[in-house]
Amino acid sequence: MQIIIEKDYEAMSRRTADVIVDTIINNPSATLCLAAGDTPRLAYSLAAKRINSEQIDVTSCKFVSLDEWIGISDNNDGSCGYFLRTVLFDPLRITNQQVHVFDGLANNLLAECGAMDEFIFNNGGIDLIVVGIGRNGHVGFNEPGVSFDHYSHVVELDATTKTVGQKYFRETTALNQGITLGLKHLLESRQAVLIANGTAKAEVIHLSLDEEISTAMPASIIQNHQNALVIVDEEAASLLKTRRS
Ligand code: F6R
Repeated sequence: MQIIIEKDYEAMSRRTADVIVDTIINNPSATLCLAAGDTPRLAYSLAAKRINSEQIDVTSCKFVSLDEWIGISDNNDGSCGYFLRTVLFDPLRITNQQVHVFDGLANNLLAECGAMDEFIFNNGGIDLIVVGIGRNGHVGFNEPGVSFDHYSHVVELDATTKTVGQKYFRETTALNQGITLGLKHLLESRQAVLIANGTAKAEVIHLSLDEEISTAMPASIIQNHQNALVIVDEEAASLLKTRRS
């Protein structure tokens, strides 16, 4: 695991964007899994800008979402699907054939999980997964206590996630369940990038990277990844003891 500490959010975002773009340059048919949320917003915008200005070919790439709120349509601007579409897929003119995102309104959620796993396996596995970290240490919607041994699955959301998740929505929204890639997908990806910024993430970054791996802190599993990169800003790194690189 390599840890990169950047000065601020913008530098963290620029470094993350470079990893995304370099992955595509090195492997034009790469499969990328991308988190939604506030943390990666600028990184994706910068990546899209660079790809467009340098005319990098993304027509053979595949993109999958990391997770989605169950019961929320991807027309809702608080959904993960809406976020990825507007921040990345539309600016890059990515076609529907290149994308597989969870449908939070699916009637058969097990089938929805199976279809995501199949898309990933049929496209050779995930080359790059970019994840954020929740204030409770979750990754995707893999909440504290989750098994590390799941592919895509449906979860009951943690109380913290239900509360913090309101920030994405214009009005108070019932958030009870999520559908998410499991941590087995993260572990099997060829490269995993965990990003975090701000003092609100300092404690979970410390617990995830300095302490033993534990299901109580799902993000700690990144320590076991064969090719993991953690990119944090100085605020998120402020309690970090491990400065491995
Ligand atoms: C979103 C996701 C979540 C977020 C995490 C941090 O797709 O998977 O795990 O990465 O909750 O969210 P932000 O970036 O908004 O702080």
